[in-house]
This record gives sequence, structure tokens and C-alpha cells, in this order.
Amino acid sequence: MNYTEEIKRRRTFAIISHPDAGKTTLTEKFLLYGGAINLAGSVKGKATARHAVSDWMEIEKERGISVTSSVLQFEYDGYCINILDTPGHQDFSEDTYRTLMAADSAVMVIDASKGVEAQTRKLFKVCVMRRIPIFTFINKMDRDANDTFDLLDEIEKELGIDTCPMNWPIGSGKGFKGVFDRQERCVITYSDTEKGTKEGHARKVALSDEAALEEALGSAARDKLLEEVELLDEAGAEFDLEEVRAGMLTPVFFGSALTNFGVEIFLKHFLEMATTPLPRKADVGMIDPLSQDFSAFVFKIQANMNKAHRDRIAFMRICSGRYDANMEVRHVQGGKVMRLSQPQQIMADDRKILSEAYAGDIIGVFDPGIFSIGDTLCAPREKFCYEGIPTFAPEHFARVRQVDTMKRKQFVKGIEQIAQEGAIQIFQEFNTGMEEIIVGVVGVLQFDVLKYRLENEYNVEIRLENLPYEHIRWIENKDEVNVERLTGTSDMKKVKDRKGNPLLLFVNPWSIGMTLERNKGLKLAEFSRN
Ligand code: G4P
Repeated sequence: MNYTEEIKRRRTFAIISHPDAGKTTLTEKFLLYGGAINLAGSVKGKATARHAVSDWMEIEKERGISVTSSVLQFEYDGYCINILDTPGHQDFSEDTYRTLMAADSAVMVIDASKGVEAQTRKLFKVCVMRRIPIFTFINKMDRDANDTFDLLDEIEKELGIDTCPMNWPIGSGKGFKGVFDRQERCVITYSDTEKGTKEGHARKVALSDEAALEEALGSAARDKLLEEVELLDEAGAEFDLEEVRAGMLTPVFFGSALTNFGVEIFLKHFLEMATTPLPRKADVGMIDPLSQDFSAFVFKIQANMNKAHRDRIAFMRICSGRYDANMEVRHVQGGKVMRLSQPQQIMADDRKILSEAYAGDIIGVFDPGIFSIGDTLCAPREKFCYEGIPTFAPEHFARVRQVDTMKRKQFVKGIEQIAQEGAIQIFQEFNTGMEEIIVGVVGVLQFDVLKYRLENEYNVEIRLENLPYEHIRWIENKDEVNVERLTGTSDMKKVKDRKGNPLLLFVNPWSIGMTLERNKGLKLAEFSRN
């Protein structure tokens, strides 16, 4: 296979969902179809996977959760699939957002009885910002589900994206009878396939075959289906691949990941509709993924994945060309031509040394402390920079002080380095010097990570004092407004980031609204590209 074909068969996506919607279960079933595992049940359950990463940060072991996100690569039907993990639960962090910068499309898993939930909403916003295609899998149809029309309505209203159901569920919970495939105009009957077997005992019945339909569904379910199909055909959004690819329309599938129903159909359709690796914006224009020249950008830096080696791994997404072992690349921001040392593919607890990788793939390389998030690597004779990765709004803030005042130097060095890796963000009071440091994080676990790392790597003990702020806004038109003179609510706080950009901290959304009202012309942003 030549390198163009290799790139074209790649599909790189992230799964976004709220914890417990079924992301892990769905991923396991994908792997099952891809033949990466034999029995779905034998994929490391979340509990065992957590222990398997035991030589990663100690804190992971202590808390039994994974602080890091990784990538899974597998083959299916001629495609080479990269699934980027977006950690949820307490380990939700800015990395979760950044991971989405490396994906070309997203699968959104929604629990049919819960609808759109908080974390999905947050991750969705990032997908919209990037205008990547989003494919929806409404899961757990084997349990009592919300009304189908209501679910679609909720997605449209809450997330502001049009929906196009590709199949339509017939009942739910104990009364779940299967789905109607709109394209093939047939009903696929539900069968609770045993965990681990690929083939279900599903039957296909044409919608036009009245007798068979009644026999398969019963007359009540059949009548309801015929009614809903008519409604849908008249009122539903038309399927339009261009709109899907522009992130304006999401194809919706219904199924049950646990009982393995509707998963393979979803995977097949998804792979057909999802894009090949997309061109990326650089300061010299768009870079074609099929270009012969290698290029990549760093989207995540993970420190101390292996305590014994105290290593730092920089994760990069290859955007064009092909990577070959030992080839030379230019690290643009560092101004150096270098060889990447032992690029690896990191899959949960497993590391595989790679000899080649293509646009669309994610590789992890040892970082001797030279890479920063957003850095570009390209062929030695090239010199361009990919558009930077935005800084996303933290939601938890704390004032941080070192316990031993004599250790100020180590403290500042440590906290700055950890901030540089992108694990935390640091802010200062707007008018004062470096004395007071405010730390902002996307997920509260990062506070523990910070405390742990400062103690273990820099020998500095710290004290964190939680602050009540939950919302931060960058001032988009900072050159047009006089920040000193801004009048906000009494609980608003002015701070600046490491680059001196002014920001505002708020306790609640109401204060944001009031501040905007009181300062006409003020423009606030939820993320920063500076
Ligand atoms: P997550 O990664 O999004 O957090 O969700 P995960 O797949 O771990 O699923 C959360 C729970 O929901 C699990 O149950 C899982 O078995 C269940 N689940 C996932 N898909 C379906 C589905 O289609 N139908 C039904 N009925 N349940 C589903 P658990 O009891 O919390 O965990 P476990 O003990 O089964 O691992």
C-alpha cells in the first residue's frame, strides 16, 4: 500500500460523552469488531485497566483512576482507526479538551434515559468550535428510554445542531423490539446478543412486508412505527453529507452497546461518512495531509508516565506525510533539527515502538523538556507553524502558597514548569507582582496532581485555598477597553495570565451578564488563542 492509500484509510476520532453513558462499552464493541480482541468481556474492564497503568503516576494507583488519556488503534474493514480517549469523571481536565484538537470527527454517546448531560455539553462546544463532524449514538435502548422525538429535540435545542436519525428505535426497555433502518426501509429485530459473540440473531424485515412485520413486532408496535416513520419522512431533516462534514448536522443512531445491538451498523456507517485526515491550518496556509512531507503538532504532554524513568511524553498528531523511524524532523519552536527518540504508540498500559506512522496517527515521543503544547514538527527544509491550541477555561480556582517560605524559588520553578506542560493554568492578581499565585484547573483532580508533583519532584509543600470562582473569561478586545476601569459585580476578580492577558473571574453566570451590561462594548471569550 502506498502512503496516500495508508493516509486515506485512516479515521481519527474521539468519543465524547458524560460518564456512564457507555463510552467504554461502545469502544470495547468496536474493538471486538476490529478483531483487536476476541471477547468483548475480556477487554480490560475499567477496574483492571486502572491497575494496569500502575507504573504511571502514583496518584493513579492511589485513586484508582486514570489521569492520562491514550489512543487505541485498530483495523476494521480496511480502515485504520484511531480512537482518542477523552477521560471523564474526576480525571476530566484540560487534556480532555485538547485531545479533541487532534481528532477529525467525534462520536457522541448519549444515554437514552438521560439525554444531553453536562460533560457532553462541554465537549460538544469544543467540537463545534472546530466544526468537526459529530455522529450520535443513543445508547442503552434496552433500558427504558426517553421519547425519541424528545431526545432529538433536546439535542437540537441544547446543542444547536440539526439531527438526522439514520435508524429509528421501536420501543425501549423490556419493550425494545429493534430499529427501523431508514435507508434500507427495513426493521432489524432486537436480539440480546451474548457478550463476546459478534453475530446476533437479528432478523431483517422489510417495512412493506405487513404480515412479517406484524409477526415480528406485534400490531401495536407496528402501527406506532408506521405512524412515526410517516412523521419522520415528512418532517425530519434530510440527510446531507456536506452538512454532516461541516458539523451542522449529526446523523443519529440508536442501539445498545452492552447487548451489542446496532453497534456494527453504526460503525460501518460512521466510517463511510467520517472524513479522512483533514487538512490543518498553519501560518503558511492549509497543509495537505497527503503531502509527502511529515508534519505534526503536540497536543498533550504527560509527565512521569514511568516513575522509574521520570520521563515526559509528548503526544503528537501527525498532520501530513509519513513518519519513519530515525528520520530527522524540525522542531520549529525550538529552532532545531532533531531525531524523535523512540516514537511510540501508547495504548493504555501498553507501549509499542513504531517504525512508521502516517497522517492521522498519534505518536508519543520522549520529551527531554523541549516541547510545549501546540508546537509544530515538520520536515527539516520546511518551517511553518500550525495554528496554536487554545487555552480552555478552567472551572476551579485556588490560591496557592508554599508552606516553607525559604523554598520560593523551587516553588515558582515547579509551578511554572507544570503550567508550561499545560496541566494547570496560573494567574496573578491584576495589579500586583508574582507574590500571589492563583491556580485554575478544568478538573479538581489537577489540584491533587499539582500538590503531589510539587512535593515529589520539587520537594515543595504547598497549601491550597479554594476560591469561589467557577467562570473565567478572557477579554477579547483588551486593546479597546480600559481594564483598570472595568466595573463588574462586587464578587468579580481581575487577574492576568502568564502572558499578561487580562481576565475576569466570576462566581456565577449572572455576574458575567451584569458585567457585560455595565461595560458596553466589552467582549468576553471562553477560551484564548493567545
Ligand atoms: P462510560 O465509559 O461512558 O463511563 O460508561 P461504561 O461503558 O463504563 O458504562 C457505564 C455502565 O452502563 C456500565 O454498567 C455498563 O455496563 C452500562 N452500559 C453501557 N452500555 C449499556 C447498554 O447499552 N445497556 C445497558 N443496560 N447498560 C449499558 P456498570 O454496572 O456501571 O458497570 P459494569 O459493572 O457493568 O462494568
